[in-house]
Amino acid sequence: MNTIEEIDDRKKPRHIAIIMDGNGRWAKEKGRLRVFGHENGVTTVRRTVESCVKFGIDYLTLYTFSTENWNRPKYEIDTLMRLLVSSLKKELKTFNKNNVRFNTIGDIKALPKNAYEELLEVMEKTKENTGMTLTLALSYGARDEMLNAVKQIAVKVKNNIISPENIDETIINNHLYTHNLPDVDLLIRTSGEHRISNFLLWQIAYAELYFIDVYWPDFKEQHLIEAIIDYQNRERRFGKTSEQLN
Ligand code: IPE
Ligand code: IPE
Ligand code: MG
Repeated sequence: MNTIEEIDDRKKPRHIAIIMDGNGRWAKEKGRLRVFGHENGVTTVRRTVESCVKFGIDYLTLYTFSTENWNRPKYEIDTLMRLLVSSLKKELKTFNKNNVRFNTIGDIKALPKNAYEELLEVMEKTKENTGMTLTLALSYGARDEMLNAVKQIAVKVKNNIISPENIDETIINNHLYTHNLPDVDLLIRTSGEHRISNFLLWQIAYAELYFIDVYWPDFKEQHLIEAIIDYQNRERRFGKTSEQLN
């Protein structure tokens, strides 16, 4: 079993992203409604944020609601939005206490008005914080993000603000929702599914992937420690040879 003491400040991931999956199955196995799983998933979010603050992680990005999740039953969507608003109201104080800067990616204008306004308020009230940046991906889809970026760049080309030959990776990056975030170092997905589900496709180009079978409501600090230690023990070569790195 790995321990917190093994987390190495020089080797730990700077940016952790998590696909929080398995709430529905967790509830179903207990003979409960799917939304019971979401309610319990909120507790895991709170614990995970606190653990990442404690470990000195700079960026934590959580996949909270995808563009595809709009296709779920209305009752489930309504519950998720209600949970989002009530958690934001509750957590604002904790964010400030922990020096957490709150951020979002995705088409948040598509959310119900009260959720949208609550998000703006929490972002505004935590914007001076200098500790960890917590980003919730809401109504987020990586393809939607890229599509938006292409449209914005196309308009700038049309208006002679950018010339086509100058389009480079930095320009593309600057037009993504994540323009203020570094690339993902460690991507974790819970619940045993081995897929990306339209999350951060550009930003995970060189992320280390970590899949774990536990459902999100059962994900504990110990699991996070195991993931970080596993990450620390990998060699990230970025296309080079092992010898070049040493
Ligand atoms: C993740 O759990 C939460 C959201 C996608 C909002 P799920 O609701 O996807 O749970 P499963 O995958 O159906 O078990
Ligand atoms: C991905 O989980 C989205 C979030 C965790 C918010 P899903 O449960 O929606 O993904 P798929 O549909 O099983 O791939
Ligand atoms: Mg799922």
